[in-house]
Amino acid sequence: PAPGWSIAADVVVVGSGVAGLTAALRCEAAGLRTVVVTKARLDDGSTRWAQGGIAAALGEGDTPQQHLDDTLVAGVGLCDEDAVRLLVTEGPDAVHRLIDTGAHFDESAEGRLALTREGGHHRRRIAHAGGDATGAEISRALVEAVVAHATGEPPAPPDGAGGPRPAGPRIIENALVLDLLTDAEGAAAGVSLHVMGEGQHDGVGAVHAPVVVLATGGMGQVFSATTNPSVSTGDGVALALRAGAEVSDLEFVQFHPTVLFLGLGAEGQQPLVSEAVRGEGAHLVDADGTRFMVGAHELAELAPRDIVAKGITRRMLEQGADHMFLDARHFGAAMWEQRFPTILAACRAHGIDPVTEPIPVAPAAHYASGGVRTDDRGRTTVPGLYACGEVACTGVHGANRLASNSLLEGLVYAERIAADITARHTAGGLPARVPVAHPAPADRPAHPLLAPEARLAVQRIMSEGAGVLRSADSLTRAADQLDQLHTEARVALEENGKTAEPGVDTWEATNLLSVARVLVAAALLREETRGCHWREDHAERDDTRWRRHIVVRLNPDRS
Ligand code: SIN
Repeated sequence: PAPGWSIAADVVVVGSGVAGLTAALRCEAAGLRTVVVTKARLDDGSTRWAQGGIAAALGEGDTPQQHLDDTLVAGVGLCDEDAVRLLVTEGPDAVHRLIDTGAHFDESAEGRLALTREGGHHRRRIAHAGGDATGAEISRALVEAVVAHATGEPPAPPDGAGGPRPAGPRIIENALVLDLLTDAEGAAAGVSLHVMGEGQHDGVGAVHAPVVVLATGGMGQVFSATTNPSVSTGDGVALALRAGAEVSDLEFVQFHPTVLFLGLGAEGQQPLVSEAVRGEGAHLVDADGTRFMVGAHELAELAPRDIVAKGITRRMLEQGADHMFLDARHFGAAMWEQRFPTILAACRAHGIDPVTEPIPVAPAAHYASGGVRTDDRGRTTVPGLYACGEVACTGVHGANRLASNSLLEGLVYAERIAADITARHTAGGLPARVPVAHPAPADRPAHPLLAPEARLAVQRIMSEGAGVLRSADSLTRAADQLDQLHTEARVALEENGKTAEPGVDTWEATNLLSVARVLVAAALLREETRGCHWREDHAERDDTRWRRHIVVRLNPDRS
């Protein structure tokens, strides 16, 4: 259906995690009319689930250069060094601005920021909150700041351009972004939305704006078992692909090594057991109690995440086991309760007491190191379209993100985006952009809508064929099965005029399939093992052929 309503703004921010809300607050503070649209509630994204913390050179004796060195090692030759340098040098001040916004971090007895370690860091540099609830605290502080500034006034009437100027970002919750709107020159002109629930905004509508900031988070739900919430369905990357923006490094999916193992076949969001537990001294052991990471890497259990995930997977394969164990019984009850209350509660809710028994763990999908390709100001290859946070590929993560760099990246690059938009606004104003008519889903056979049930099929295909360990065989099988899903939907549309009923579940399944197909194609192409991309048929890193990025840009009219 054609958009039934529209509102106008200077900037529309899609997503409400650390990146989206930071961008919105900064743009609004610069006097730009800003609208935040978010798929569920303001705090329903991935940020709230982050446990370990936010990395920055904040400790005595630490320097941005040391943070940069650790980040480059973790990224295995594919980080953009300039992008990392911006991250680590601007990071400490950005964390202090977050504190000024209202986030409370844990402090030492002397009143300094308490810092912990995680995989790949040679120093204590991870600031945390509530012990192991860092993301929840950051989300609370940012949501409160946005809500405090928002007017709470009802949404503008249809075509409310020129309506009264709100005093804070206008918020539209329960709004799934469908597509980028563009003007006759192909520049961003807003987004179309599907809004659920009650109120004036129900149905398909649009926000018209010359600047669109994508901050939609990740795509963990493309796999069966993931630490990501159910909303992480790759919507931003799928939108960018449909809009013809460049997307890079999608093959580098990070599998978190220590996710609470709830049995074979467990599906959906799984409880994370933070790296910080290892940072404070927990050991990874097999069923015999042997510490298998000792001797495998100089940092043992605190090796970069890809190396630990591989170490666990190797041991599982050798022993025919479906999980390993994380042993932190030596912490004792008091430390567990004070330092890791969230993880303790999650384990106990599943009948495991980490105070008296080792925690069963296995790797699960956690983070997309790749995403929509941006420059150092967060600009994508489509004019007016920016991206930040997990949806973006700024170049800071390379082939494997360093632990706790993600919240920092969301923060720093959101601020960089807001600074760029503000500079453009100050220099001559943002251009007026008139969106051209957008084809309805039923008129786009290149991107047929998938029935909601296809979501499970995509997840199973991906976990079987494109998980921690991949090969040409497994990836080819996955590619064929995904193509089959696409072809069925396309044929139903082209030959029988049938399309799935547009709705959130339908769009999510469609988006998952779009990102899965590109991810698998890139993983098949990259015939080497590097960072979190592990090919059993190409077990070595190949710097001659593959010290480069796989960049994808789809022709919007083709599948
Ligand atoms: C964790 O707490 O282990 C997650 C940290 C991260 O993903 O950076």
